[in-house]
Amino acid sequence: MLGPPGVGKGTQARRLAATCGCAAISTGEILREAAARATPLGLEARRQMDAGRLVEDEVMIGLVRERTAGPDARCGFVLDGFPRTVAQAEALGAMLAARGQELDVVLYLWVGEEELIRRLRGRRECPVCKRAYNPEGAPARDGRHCDDHPGAELRPRADDTEEAIRQRLAEYRVKTAPLVDYYTAAGRLRSVPGAGTVEEVFQSLRREAGCDRRVEQAT
Ligand code: AP5
Repeated sequence: MLGPPGVGKGTQARRLAATCGCAAISTGEILREAAARATPLGLEARRQMDAGRLVEDEVMIGLVRERTAGPDARCGFVLDGFPRTVAQAEALGAMLAARGQELDVVLYLWVGEEELIRRLRGRRECPVCKRAYNPEGAPARDGRHCDDHPGAELRPRADDTEEAIRQRLAEYRVKTAPLVDYYTAAGRLRSVPGAGTVEEVFQSLRREAGCDRRVEQAT
């Protein structure tokens, strides 16, 4: 899944992975878990994330190599938040080729910047399952607690401050947006508008990802 901060990558990657029967792998979530455990990598990553800057390519490539070799990724995986630079994209291509695997599709999700900022400002996350909610567009049933974890009070993410949002958007424009051309040239990109309800966007992504075909092939 490729797209700017706040476009809905995490929201949709979970649903797509569940539908396609594969693993959802979010590099942002891996880093936040490492930060919560206060590992040296996590603490360094926390500094970069809270400032809205990208973590170094080498660190991210190593994390993804390890995570995608996990048992739950054997049937395939949806990557959310990786690759984010051309160097990461090249490393992913080499990693997959070395394993005899193939990148099926790059789903490029996009909406205007005003909408991105509105979504990030309003985002609240479940501390247990990390599902994202939003009062406008993706509200929790009672407005305060996770639908699946009724004891868990929703809270903002540490990198959803005004300054970090601005910096993340700037990093995206300079370092990640070039991947749109990179994967267009590779013939792998499918562009999907991220405006509309979560369900509408999901149905568009599902079509572009060929989820139904994949599930049929696997059964
Ligand atoms: P990461 O966690 O990947 O953050 P991000 O890319 O900035 O994306 P977000 O998680 O903010 O947004 P999203 O697109 O997933 O949207 P969401 O579904 O939550 O990365 C965080 C940090 O980790 C980075 O800044 C960097 O420091 C580091 N990092 C991670 N990967 C890295 C890498 N590969 N290389 C280097 N550094 C890396 O939705 C947003 C909000 O909108 C939610 O409130 C949601 O409920 C709502 N929403 C979703 N869809 C809709 C809809 N259709 N209508 C209305 N609201 C909606």
